[in-house]
Amino acid sequence: MGRLDGKVAIITGATMDEAGGVGIGGATAQLMAREGARVVVADIHGEGARRLAGSITRSGGQSLAVEVDVSKESDILKMVAAAVDTYGGLDILHNNAVASGPDALGKDGDLLSLELSAWERSLQVNLTGVMLGCKHAIPHMMKRGRGAIVNTSSAASLHGDVVRAAYGTTKAGLNSLTQYVATMYGKQGIRCNAVALGLVLTAAVRSAITPEILESLKRHHLTPYVGEPEHAAEAVVFLASDAAAFITGETLVVDGGFSCHVPAFADYQAMATAPIVATKD
Ligand SMILES: NC(=O)c1ccc[n+]([C@@H]2O[C@H](COP(=O)([O-])OP(=O)(O)OC[C@H]3O[C@@H](n4cnc5c(N)ncnc54)[C@H](O)[C@@H]3O)[C@@H](O)[C@H]2O)c1
Repeated sequence: MGRLDGKVAIITGATMDEAGGVGIGGATAQLMAREGARVVVADIHGEGARRLAGSITRSGGQSLAVEVDVSKESDILKMVAAAVDTYGGLDILHNNAVASGPDALGKDGDLLSLELSAWERSLQVNLTGVMLGCKHAIPHMMKRGRGAIVNTSSAASLHGDVVRAAYGTTKAGLNSLTQYVATMYGKQGIRCNAVALGLVLTAAVRSAITPEILESLKRHHLTPYVGEPEHAAEAVVFLASDAAAFITGETLVVDGGFSCHVPAFADYQAMATAPIVATKD
């Protein structure tokens, strides 16, 4: 028996590349399907979404691809309608899409040179898109008397960084929206949580990250490894499942301990010394 048997789920930002590689949304859709859910994979890249849905179907799951720009309300309405019309209702929404292209994240460097268009695209996709998804999914969940929403946030929403102010700020807004949705619709059986992910080595991240940065990030993890898409997918499936029936309004940090410790931790380890030791009685 699967953890999501009989459930209908929408996952945004879910594709498969030509080599069969998946990001976090793709890995989550695959795991949800293995756990018994019928999955609607929704992405601005329709071809990648169709490739993913086809792969899930060939593996014995049930899946439908929808091309959607989550920042457009008309697209969100079509996406939700596709799930309800095809599978008879909606139980789970995983808001995972992110403005990761050159028009947003690619320009999200130093604040002083940040173009307004990149800031606005980040807001539209990362935050407005999540609000629209919730707005149009919740009425269908209410009809069933239950529903679970899981939003993909980031460890970047919890602290400052030297780059990506737009990205981090939109994710912090998403954490707050998660609490609002949980508060507004909890009594109607709707749970809403977020996962604040640390580094996740998707194919795209793998090809973009320098060995030096990866080594630095590894030193600051408490686990002996960094995140893989499957780590993120497991956390999302848990929060979407009935096993998390009493958890709502939470932002679960899933980052291998990257953000839970004093920042100088890795330096102390490298020095092989304790930072403060009593030397006298
Ligand atoms: N990979 C990491 O290290 C990491 C770390 C923290 C948080 N996250 C979060 O995880 C989520 C997935 O990230 P990923 O690394 O798999 O990235 P990704 O770029 O592989 O996935 C994002 C997907 O969103 C889609 N998308 C972009 N704009 C869209 C739009 N307007 N409408 C619909 N789809 C759109 C893209 O086509 C892509 O398939 C994101 O929310 C991201 O912020 C990732």
